[in-house]
Amino acid sequence: MFSVGLLASLFCLVVIHARSTSAQCWSKNACIATSVCSAKGGTSKAGLCPGPTQIQCCSCSTCMDVKTCSAKGGKSQPGICPGPSNVQCCKLGSGKPKPVNTMLTNLAAILRRAGLRVLEQPGWKTRGHGKMASVKSILIHHTAGPSKGEYPSLGVVRDGRKDLPGPLAQLGLGRSGTWYVIAAGRCYHAGKTINDSIFGNSNSIGIEAEGTGTPSDNTGHRYWPPVQWNSYVRGVKALQAAYGVPTARVLGHKEAAVPKGRKVDPNFSMTEFRAALR
Ligand SMILES: *[C@@H]1O[C@H](CO)[C@@H](O)[C@H](O)[C@H]1NC(C)=O
Ligand SMILES: *[C@@H]1O[C@H](CO)[C@@H](O)[C@H](O)[C@H]1NC(C)=O
Ligand SMILES: [Zn+2]
Repeated sequence: MFSVGLLASLFCLVVIHARSTSAQCWSKNACIATSVCSAKGGTSKAGLCPGPTQIQCCSCSTCMDVKTCSAKGGKSQPGICPGPSNVQCCKLGSGKPKPVNTMLTNLAAILRRAGLRVLEQPGWKTRGHGKMASVKSILIHHTAGPSKGEYPSLGVVRDGRKDLPGPLAQLGLGRSGTWYVIAAGRCYHAGKTINDSIFGNSNSIGIEAEGTGTPSDNTGHRYWPPVQWNSYVRGVKALQAAYGVPTARVLGHKEAAVPKGRKVDPNFSMTEFRAALR
């Protein structure tokens, strides 16, 4: 009896001592569930918060301004950084830094790694209307080119037209499912979009698949060679994984272009296409 009582009071003293000195979480509001903390990109430390054991002190090692975070391709998470409200925990996607203000010189490697047939066009690594600001989206096009041939639109996509200098897309997709890597820089493929900060030329990879596209049809993909459509899906999946582009940001040009109705491409169902990306 006596010894248990003594132990208990010693324990109390230790706890009181600990509480009254330093061992406290940096903010009461940062005492949150460990699962919530890790979802925000923070690290939990036990023993600094009152309450159940899963409530721990959450801190972040990547506190920064929300704009700086988004420029790095990260997602800002409130509540676990000290300082003003614009300073938040920056959760960077799966360790892969997103491209910022750069040429996309890894396009060929990304597609090849996905097991696709890739033909690199001479000079592609330096071709473009300047660098890409970022990669936030992927736009799906068809060329509306000739009705026969593997990739007869190559020259136009690379060099442009009288009214629009090339390159007109980073990537081409032939009727055989072969990918043509045309430019690593910014390309004139999007025009005015529903949100240029996501879908504009500076932030979007353009893919021009060979197809006449006429008459235009918004259902299925039955008029497309299966080998080409399957390759389209596989290639876009690989690009999404490499650049962290969510499926909701894979749009058909007809969906992204404004005013509505300005573009009809691609002439297959984008709902079906996005479903195939999952
Ligand atoms: C465009 O997208 C950005 C980033 O998601 C967003 O902050 C902005 O509000 C959007 N603009 C419009 C007009 O929807
Ligand atoms: C769509 O594009 C394909 C590929 O060029 C073409 O064969 C087809 O005729 C077009 N039309 C429709 C209705 O899908
Ligand atoms: Zn288009």
